[in-house]
Amino acid sequence: MVAFTLDRFELILKFDETLNRLPILLKSVASKSYADRKYGALLDPEELPRKWYNIVPDLPEALAPMLNPHTREPMGPKEFERLFPKELVKQQFSMERWLDIPEAVWDAYRRLPRPTPLVRAKRLEQYLRTPAKIYYKAEQFSPVGSMKPNSAIPQAFYAKKQGLDLAVSETGAGQWGSALAMACSWFELPVRIYMVRVSSQQKPGRKIMMETYGAEVFESPSENTKIGKKLLQENPSHPGSLGIAISEAIEDTFTTEGSRYLLASAFNYALAHQTIIGLETQKQFELLDEVPDIMCGCIGGGSNFSGFIYPFVREKMRKKIDTEFMACEPTAVPSTTRGSFTYDYADTAEQTPLVKMYTVGHNFSNPPIHAGGLRYHGKAPSLSLLIYKKVVKSTSFAQTKVFEAAKIFAQTEGVIAAPESAHGIRYAIDEAIRCRKKNEKKIIVFNNCGHGLLDLSAYNEYNHGKMVDWSPEEIVAPQYVK
Ligand SMILES: Cc1ncc(COP(=O)(O)O)c(C=O)c1O
Repeated sequence: MVAFTLDRFELILKFDETLNRLPILLKSVASKSYADRKYGALLDPEELPRKWYNIVPDLPEALAPMLNPHTREPMGPKEFERLFPKELVKQQFSMERWLDIPEAVWDAYRRLPRPTPLVRAKRLEQYLRTPAKIYYKAEQFSPVGSMKPNSAIPQAFYAKKQGLDLAVSETGAGQWGSALAMACSWFELPVRIYMVRVSSQQKPGRKIMMETYGAEVFESPSENTKIGKKLLQENPSHPGSLGIAISEAIEDTFTTEGSRYLLASAFNYALAHQTIIGLETQKQFELLDEVPDIMCGCIGGGSNFSGFIYPFVREKMRKKIDTEFMACEPTAVPSTTRGSFTYDYADTAEQTPLVKMYTVGHNFSNPPIHAGGLRYHGKAPSLSLLIYKKVVKSTSFAQTKVFEAAKIFAQTEGVIAAPESAHGIRYAIDEAIRCRKKNEKKIIVFNNCGHGLLDLSAYNEYNHGKMVDWSPEEIVAPQYVK
């Protein structure tokens, strides 16, 4: 027998006595992936998925259309093309289950680098004295420290490919802004970002990062837009909110020729891009020959958690697995646990279409919590529908409980998690403790969607007993469509 290895295939020439000739066999060479239940799983980079998963055609019922706020009529793709790049609008309305990842985006993912590891949190298990197994998907390794580049890269790529001159966006905690600034610098696309003023003051490091990547950054509300000017006149030290920053970014996009708005979350395409996380996780569990019993993570707009779970949700809806999905939000922004599943605006200035989602109302004031990425009033329509249909569950945590979990995770696994991510960690820890009490060997996995190395002042507050909890007394559900 003679064998040659060609790239990832083995060419085998072997005399076959029954055929009385030399058949040529082409066999794929064993993957260089690694899996060990003691440590977790690493994928061979060639195993990085080539397609994103779009859950829309698989949802238990059709998504409610976005409505024109004036006519209350459903809006079609054409009406979105002045605001968003064409290819993203196409993806937003796509009923294709699988969306091709362009080669340039796949290449950029590889250089982040992806695939990211699935890590077994063994010391955390030992600390909790639990028979459960805890894994986490390590999304904190990207240069900007979160999963945000998974969508920022394709969005910048499509905008550049369309020949646009400027990307405009908003950022709350600064994670999306830094990811977008990095991606735009890779594709040589100028970018302007409105950063919620209070976040910018709490986390000056994020603004410096964005500017280092070459972005133009405005504290929001700003003097750059009509809505910003109006709010500053009313209150010169207005703290801003994500809804206001979105309004400013939209106004800027509509008034600047050749610009488009690149948005972080909630829309179908942002969630589809993030499924790169779940598709890798799925391959990693296949290598480990295990199926998670519980998947948990935080929800702001819903992109990281949806991206993490949707490939598994598909399997659950096909009755192939029985995994439980738990979305974790702050008690300070209880969109899914105390809000309503109804039509609402996605921004404060009421410039967006009406979107059917879980919401605490678009006028919800800026909640005083450190998880800046979880302050958004609404949640992604597809995730909202899945929560409404009870395919996905949700719960909420106060921030002191969240930081308590984050500190345990830091001391056991060494990772200082983003305050957002720590909401998922809280649930994983609570579930592992329940497993200890019931002596259950469940497999728990959470998405560690970011690191908290630029959130140290929040850790400092917690470490010195200065952190306080807050939750809204009353939530006024909007009633735009009966
Ligand atoms: C690290 C991190 N995780 C999670 C989120 C929440 O967003 P999403 O629910 O869209 O993943 C944010 C948002 O800024 C974030 O920065």
